Amino acid sequence: MRHKAPHRGPVTTMQWRTTLSVETRYTAGAGSRLQLANLLLQMPVSKRILLLSQSPLQYCVDELRSLLESAGFLVHTLLLDASEDCKSASSLSTVWETLSENGFERKDTIVAIGGGALCDVAGFSAATYLRGINLVLVPSTLLAQVDAAIGGKTGINLKQGKNLVGAFYFPRMVLIDPEILTTLPGRELNSAKAEIIKYALIEKTVVENTEYRSGPRPLLSMLEQFLSEALAVDDPIWEGIILACVKMKLGVVGADPKEAGLRRCLNLGHTLGHAIETVSQYTVTHGEAVSMGMMFAFKLSESRSLIDSASVQRVRALIKRCSLPEILPATLSRDSLLEVMAKDKKREGAQIRFVLPVRELGSVDYDAALSLEYIGSMI
Ligand SMILES: NC(=O)c1ccc[n+]([C@@H]2O[C@H](COP(=O)([O-])OP(=O)(O)OC[C@H]3O[C@@H](n4cnc5c(N)ncnc54)[C@H](O)[C@@H]3O)[C@@H](O)[C@H]2O)c1
Repeated sequence: MRHKAPHRGPVTTMQWRTTLSVETRYTAGAGSRLQLANLLLQMPVSKRILLLSQSPLQYCVDELRSLLESAGFLVHTLLLDASEDCKSASSLSTVWETLSENGFERKDTIVAIGGGALCDVAGFSAATYLRGINLVLVPSTLLAQVDAAIGGKTGINLKQGKNLVGAFYFPRMVLIDPEILTTLPGRELNSAKAEIIKYALIEKTVVENTEYRSGPRPLLSMLEQFLSEALAVDDPIWEGIILACVKMKLGVVGADPKEAGLRRCLNLGHTLGHAIETVSQYTVTHGEAVSMGMMFAFKLSESRSLIDSASVQRVRALIKRCSLPEILPATLSRDSLLEVMAKDKKREGAQIRFVLPVRELGSVDYDAALSLEYIGSMI
């Protein structure tokens, strides 16, 4: 079902550089996807494009294809498997072979229209084909708009776990258009609120360590006023919320593009979250898993007296207002979760680097070394 389109306000454009020699253009605002062809014409890219997407986005692929062709681009399209299934080695081969069969060269471009899963596989395909071709992302889920399409992490899953193969590869351009969210299933829209809450819970640490500056009021207080399960997709408040998250992530990634330290703060709730996704065979969405993972991190911090119980209650109230889960389903085996966490990239010997909330809401310790045994005893 297509919901009512959001109000079209001004479109925001940011030019972003990191300590690596990369530069990405971020354009955000309702209707910004329709600028794709014009913006590409201003960039040093050739006219050959692969539009990569998934079947629920066919309408958007058709719309952008026709705009690109009218502007003189030669457009190929490829639809990959649904949801998380596209993050596979077989998708990767399909993309590489499609690029090769159609004579793609280094100046050619993959334009990915999709959620975080599609953006991840598109990014890894672009990073690896001919050792790197142009990448443009048009994130189509709330989660991808505030998180997955920002920051250059790309990858695919193995049956042993999520994101075990990947690369850092930065897109040339990201178009963030809230209008695309109007067709998103309610569960997908809602579960992304967990990632938005995560930003509010790391905001002070981000302000202290990056060039990011919060708005007139902290994101957490804005979310406590506006965010709930009922917040309509066409509410104009979304543009401000999305932009705050994007700016925060760009601040963190600009300061630490390859996760040498600070960038780990973005993983609040993710170590257990990834294990939940894997063990549930992706029946639990990424956002739902992160929601449970964050509440687990708060449980650890509270039990170690790193944060007071009133703060934990505040977070729980917000999670509940968004109808996000906080307690692990009993059907998920604790042993399996630990087994998956033991394969986590953040593991070092018998310990895992965990992100723990500390002192006051918004501050985290992103370098807490916890033993797997201790984590297992607390799940
Ligand atoms: N690279 C990163 O930094 C990063 C960060 C966070 C998450 N991720 C990854 O992102 C993935 C989760 O992303 P997600 O939550 O966007 O889920 P998703 O990409 O699996 O998309 C969910 C479903 O919604 C469909 N869909 C997407 N946009 C739609 C639209 N506008 N209308 C209708 N249907 C639509 C998709 O086809 C898919 O079936 C995970 O694989 C996670 O690991 C990556």
